[in-house]
Amino acid sequence: MLTTSSTSSAEVDPMTMRRTMGRFATGVAVVTTRAAGVPHGMTVNSLTSVSLDPPLLLVCLTTGARSTDAVVEAGRFAVNILSARQEQLALRFARRGEDHFAGLEVTEGRHRVPVIPDAFAHLECDVERHLIAGDHVVVFGHVRSVCERDGEPLAFHGGRFADLADRANEPVHWFF
Ligand SMILES: Cc1cc2nc3c(=O)[nH]c(=O)nc-3n(C[C@H](O)[C@H](O)[C@H](O)COP(=O)(O)O)c2cc1C
Repeated sequence: MLTTSSTSSAEVDPMTMRRTMGRFATGVAVVTTRAAGVPHGMTVNSLTSVSLDPPLLLVCLTTGARSTDAVVEAGRFAVNILSARQEQLALRFARRGEDHFAGLEVTEGRHRVPVIPDAFAHLECDVERHLIAGDHVVVFGHVRSVCERDGEPLAFHGGRFADLADRANEPVHWFF
């Protein structure tokens, strides 16, 4: 039998939520777009694969970020998945209020969004839909093109960057 427990948001404060969710290890990506001719980008770890057919993903973007409005306005974006060597890029795109693209080489993707050329992978998307959930906007992307490179991913866990290089030679397991 399913049991449910009810917890009001007043009982779980934002820092507790962030710390506890930090136990869920993720990769790290930079969402990029261009709105009114201006490039925007922000570091995210809320990236989730949603559907294989059609190919859909989602990212949760804070309502306070410049990039959030830019993604919705542009109607398209790229997800640049970072490699283990790209921690500095993750930090660059997480600093609020800075020109994230100053001195950075970016290329034009196939779908008119800026992409980070040496990212571990990138997926270019049209915004399929978006919805406001609490203090974030959940943006669903319909993936239009992908590009992958060899290497190791950058990981994030417990508020720290990590890499998975020591497991690179282990066999691949498919769980679904
Ligand atoms: C590892 C990491 C993961 C992050 N993940 C997210 C995320 O999934 N969603 C989000 O809104 N902000 C996330 N942030 C914070 C944004 O990167 C940060 O607020 C960014 O500067 C906002 O961009 P802006 O300059 O367009 O406001 C993350 C930061 C780090 C370091």
